[in-house]
Amino acid sequence: MKIAKRVENLPPYLFVEISKRIAEKKAKGEEVISFGIGDPDIPTPPHIINRLLEASRDPVNHRYPESEGLPELRRAIAAWYMNRFGVSLDPETEIAPLLGAKEGIAHIAFCFIDPGDTALVPDPGYPVYAIGTNLAGGHPYYLPITEKNNFLPELNRIPAGVAEKARLLWLNYPNNPTGAVAGIEFFQQAVEFARKTGVSICHDGPYSEVAFDGYRPVSFLQAPGAKEVGIEFHSLSKTYNMTGWRIGMAVGNATMIGALKTLKSNIDSGIPQAIQYAAIEALTGPQDCVAEHNVLYQRRRDLVVEGLNKIGLKAICPKASLYVWAKVPEGYTSAEFTKDLLDQVGVVVTPGNGYGPNGEGYVRLSLTIADANLLKGLSRIAGWRSHKMLSGLKLT
Ligand SMILES: Cc1ncc(COP(=O)(O)O)c(C=O)c1O
Repeated sequence: MKIAKRVENLPPYLFVEISKRIAEKKAKGEEVISFGIGDPDIPTPPHIINRLLEASRDPVNHRYPESEGLPELRRAIAAWYMNRFGVSLDPETEIAPLLGAKEGIAHIAFCFIDPGDTALVPDPGYPVYAIGTNLAGGHPYYLPITEKNNFLPELNRIPAGVAEKARLLWLNYPNNPTGAVAGIEFFQQAVEFARKTGVSICHDGPYSEVAFDGYRPVSFLQAPGAKEVGIEFHSLSKTYNMTGWRIGMAVGNATMIGALKTLKSNIDSGIPQAIQYAAIEALTGPQDCVAEHNVLYQRRRDLVVEGLNKIGLKAICPKASLYVWAKVPEGYTSAEFTKDLLDQVGVVVTPGNGYGPNGEGYVRLSLTIADANLLKGLSRIAGWRSHKMLSGLKLT
């Protein structure tokens, strides 16, 4: 059987590989502590589940949903954006509900990338920006985001020939994997850049509600003129612990949203309606759960950052997102360090190079791990470090 090149050439998805290695360890009876995927360990809040149960009992919701989503859902998304960011959206033309943001992120490439076209993609970055581009026959042009530039791409350093030919610019703040944030000034620069070059912007913001120390991330759409040049992807996954229900949205520029809706109406039949009702409840119901989760994540962030720094692994303290981005010990690559931790102490961290070449030298630790395991994991990493120190490795 011949598999098409576009699939044959796909690298295995980062977390599929990691999950396989965890399963092998577990099959041998070993206990593995995972700081891997950013999948909230806290359940979906009860009021949302209750709405889901109620809606799932109604036969109206047993039938095909509309691919563009219930009008009530689109109105709830518009109201949420207005309340949270002061951004006004037309539920008819500026909102596309998604089967999770990942689905829309992959599919938008098919709307704007023709074979041979370029998309500007952050490096390191969420892998789907580049994968979607490749699947559509395009080429990612990587924009380094490094500690030196506060993990913000230097748009003015993109060669003019590349910038003018690029069709999409991908941005993501609060950032996965680095935990970096962007202020409104950066988004204003991005809008200017788009106006100058004609590139369309896709900002991915699923972590906007996971923030610490009172910090409130901004939306790309708050930048004046943003809606003329781009869209924002968002998700209920991280805000309301709804990764398993698969629901997100793309919002903003009507032409871009229209293209995505046209594509999607041809390839999916929408989000199960009971889940849409659960999402409406999440967006319009009590929001205390969001602040409560942030208290928990902030405590875990402090434990991880302090724990790693104490043993000489330089960790950056994030203002938002579910991730701590930490340097690997001197003399190690990301892959070597990750392998060592898994093989020797049964701890999973994600290798930074899995997010692009500029992620080399780092690992990502997710905060979506129960406190007891988090402490156990940190103590195992400390144990690994002492062992290495005894065997002569210099850790800075
Ligand atoms: C930056 C980023 N965008 C999008 C997603 C996908 O979110 P969803 O669960 O809505 O598909 C993730 C998931 O981890 C992510 O990290």
